[in-house]
Amino acid sequence: MNILVTGGLGFIGSHTCVELIANQHQVVIVDNLVNSKPEVLDRIEKLTGVRPRFYPVDVTDSCALEAVFATHPELDGVIHFAGLKAVGESVEKPIAYYYNNLVSTMVLVDACVTHRVNRIIFSSSATVYGDQPSPYREDMALMKTTNPYGETKAVSERILSDVAGANPTLAVTLLRYFNPVGAHPSGLLGEDPSGIPNNLMPYVSKVARGVLPILKIFGDDYPTPDGTGVRDYIHVVDLAKGHVKAVESDIQGVKVYNLGTGKGISVMEIVNAYAAVNGVEIPYEIAPRRPGDLASYYADAGKARDELGWVASLSLEDMVRDAYRFETSNSHL
Ligand code: WQD
Repeated sequence: MNILVTGGLGFIGSHTCVELIANQHQVVIVDNLVNSKPEVLDRIEKLTGVRPRFYPVDVTDSCALEAVFATHPELDGVIHFAGLKAVGESVEKPIAYYYNNLVSTMVLVDACVTHRVNRIIFSSSATVYGDQPSPYREDMALMKTTNPYGETKAVSERILSDVAGANPTLAVTLLRYFNPVGAHPSGLLGEDPSGIPNNLMPYVSKVARGVLPILKIFGDDYPTPDGTGVRDYIHVVDLAKGHVKAVESDIQGVKVYNLGTGKGISVMEIVNAYAAVNGVEIPYEIAPRRPGDLASYYADAGKARDELGWVASLSLEDMVRDAYRFETSNSHL
């Protein structure tokens, strides 16, 4: 199939492009490079032997996006990754998050309807569930989210669902990610956030390499087995493969799937595994809880298994090994 990937040079987008091409799909990429680098396109080509068409376009720019759709009448579907995604930053910059994440979704789905591109797969998030007991199931009522980032994902889901209601030929797949981590085993693709990382795994990688002096663990007094926060960490390659399954599935109307492992892992377990697997020291100190953080959440991953035939298969050891390899293979980062 011919797939437009927005944010296709980003962390999850680039890994998904590699898996799409490996499964004989054709990929067109738009990315505004606000949180990615053009050299990622060279690395996708190096890994696959294919250089996707790339347009440095901001998805909120309806004229520029219209030109891409007009140039590619062959498009069968879209995967929408492009968006701002730092929970903490969204609390500080709500307007940037609401504008970018909501306008991009509306501009994109409007172009899909205009050009009869009848399949849109949306990069949603476990944060849409709000604060409720795990495991999270797709049929749960969504509670109020705890930050603007999560709210933009919940509202985008509603926008896409309503547009599908008005356009019965439009198939919408909402993929709710848990915590994507790790990197491509080649060391060529990985999580390379601009500036100081917000997320745990890239921060641990910088400490492991000595770029940052010490990890702050945000709270060890949560009601969890070791007191530190628990999340459902999923290898980014597993996540990418889940997108290929979604592209290839025969979906009508609106479908929602959790993409997680179904297993909760604590901050301390991540730190200990990272140190043990890679033979490195990870200096850390306990710091106050981070505003907006929940104690613990993880997925019920059964629906994606049963309906998409997808199950996460890579282990915690794979996640920390691949993350460290990417960090040390790209020391200029
Ligand atoms: C994980 C745990 C922190 C940094 C992420 C993404 C968000 C969305 C949901 C996909 C928490 C602790 C972190 C640090 C720490 N993903 N931590 N020290 O908050 O679960 O959100 O998943 O849509 O985009 O941000 O991930 O990696 O920031 O935190 O102790 O320096 O690590 O308290 O318990 P989070 P995270």
